[in-house]
Amino acid sequence: MVHILSTALLLYFLPQFPCLSPDETTFGLSYNGGRIMTEPVSVSLIWFGTGWQESGRDAIRNAITSLTPSPYKDPEVPTLGDWWDVIKQYKDGSNSPVTDRVDVGAECFFTGPELNMTLDQVVEIGQTVFNQTAIEGFGGNLSCNRVFEADENSIYHIVLSHTVMFLVGQKQREMMDMCSGKFQLEIFGNMTVNMTWAREPQNAADHCSNFIGGSYYVGPPNGDEKIDSLVGYMLAKIAEEVTDRDGSGWSSNDGTGLTVSSSCPSPFQKIASGPPLYTDEDRKISFNAVGLNGFRYIIPYIWNQKIRNCALKSSEICSSNAILVEHPRGLLKGGIVVNHTDGLQPYAPNQKCQWNIQLPNEAKFISFTINYLAVAQGSGDHLLICQSHSSLEKCSVIQVKNGEFNRKFKVLGSRASIEFTSGDHVPFESRGWELSYSAGNQNPS
Ligand SMILES: *[C@@H]1O[C@H](CO)[C@@H](O)[C@H](O)[C@H]1NC(C)=O
Ligand SMILES: *[C@@H]1O[C@H](CO)[C@@H](O)[C@H](O)[C@H]1NC(C)=O
Ligand SMILES: *[C@@H]1O[C@H](CO)[C@@H](O)[C@H](O)[C@H]1NC(C)=O
Ligand SMILES: *[C@@H]1O[C@H](CO)[C@@H](O)[C@H](O)[C@H]1NC(C)=O
Ligand SMILES: *[C@@H]1O[C@H](CO)[C@@H](O)[C@H](O)[C@H]1NC(C)=O
Ligand SMILES: *[C@@H]1O[C@H](CO)[C@@H](O)[C@H](O)[C@H]1NC(C)=O
Repeated sequence: MVHILSTALLLYFLPQFPCLSPDETTFGLSYNGGRIMTEPVSVSLIWFGTGWQESGRDAIRNAITSLTPSPYKDPEVPTLGDWWDVIKQYKDGSNSPVTDRVDVGAECFFTGPELNMTLDQVVEIGQTVFNQTAIEGFGGNLSCNRVFEADENSIYHIVLSHTVMFLVGQKQREMMDMCSGKFQLEIFGNMTVNMTWAREPQNAADHCSNFIGGSYYVGPPNGDEKIDSLVGYMLAKIAEEVTDRDGSGWSSNDGTGLTVSSSCPSPFQKIASGPPLYTDEDRKISFNAVGLNGFRYIIPYIWNQKIRNCALKSSEICSSNAILVEHPRGLLKGGIVVNHTDGLQPYAPNQKCQWNIQLPNEAKFISFTINYLAVAQGSGDHLLICQSHSSLEKCSVIQVKNGEFNRKFKVLGSRASIEFTSGDHVPFESRGWELSYSAGNQNPS
């Protein structure tokens, strides 16, 4: 019976993960013995093209340096440091986690011919940045704040402005078909290094443009959809490099070779209403995470092995003890809730969370309003509101049926308990719940 139920669930949720194998409950990443980056990382950048503004570059640099545990913890809005904490759960064979320091390294700027580039030209420039004499040979079209160094703790990352065009040929078309990638090149005639790349979308119709609207979208977090799309691709690439440096680090256990980044669907194409986002109405920006120095970003979901789901930050785990609540009114919630409208990420599996509400005896009843409910239908996940007296306990199960649920509940007396239970597999769209309660001291009508 249990088996049949979970199969039905799988079928139901499978379309959300088009790239996963059918056996979704066992999907996960496993370690293949290769390199992960446990020492402080520097990301050296080659900026291609003339389409950059300094504000856009600063947003990108700041995103990279924000990949570090931040002193500032917001219980609600994820930070890039929280996101990096998820990455840090990936360890190498000697149990060392991914580094907690990522900085911007050397930077080069290529502003030569950009209208009809070839991959070979990109590779040539990628080789040149390691050689000062060769840089000078570009006669001012290539400049660097310092020459790149061959260093195993560096990530070399090319960023292509929207002005860079690849027009002719198969290899060039691939650069336009993809939004980011990686290639290997030889330097000094005796070494190979990998370079990752990501490109700005050329216009709003470009499939690399992440901003297709949605009800929570009021504007790009850094004022330029091209930059804000690019940030997502770059962060995804950096996450892949540090967890799967040589292609035999952490990747999916189902033979498809998915990584910490590619295991998760883009939140942007998923739902008609768009991804859940925070909005700042005054500044007309939307975001799902904050970086250092007040920067806001829309960042991609990554695979969190601990909850076997895609996430932006580590999930809260309930303690085994019930939480005692004594205020006459308040708000309780499970999972992460954005603006009482939509949760940002799935709640953790296999949880049992409990709250005991104990009000002074003059309270005659407690009324509950469910503000938000996105818990898995049909699986073991449920929210229970119970009237508790020493002698009897009467419970109501709050369930979603065909998208509907009862929003209002009333419990007689001054005591109630709330219980939230989650099962083994939490679908990506199960974002949790929030309720408010208040005590009444008249006899209930
Ligand atoms: C620098 O780029 C310009 C076009 O942007 C080109 O005309 C010129 O030949 C390039 N110079 C060198 C030395 O490659
Ligand atoms: C682009 O460059 C290729 C050679 O690499 C050339 O054959 C083609 O005509 C060029 N196209 C345009 C539109 O300039
Ligand atoms: C650096 O570039 C110059 C000029 O292209 C070349 O002569 C030299 O061999 C290069 N050095 C190395 C170490 O590859
Ligand atoms: C590769 O060649 C460069 C320049 O010729 C040299 O400095 C470096 O030590 C060599 N590296 C290896 C790994 O042989
Ligand atoms: C470059 O990446 C490929 C594919 O992941 C990998 O096989 C290769 O070992 C990497 N090379 C270096 C120098 O890390
Ligand atoms: C929540 O929504 C309100 C109104 O739409 C907005 O003013 C506020 O900034 C939002 N809060 C967050 C954290 O996005």
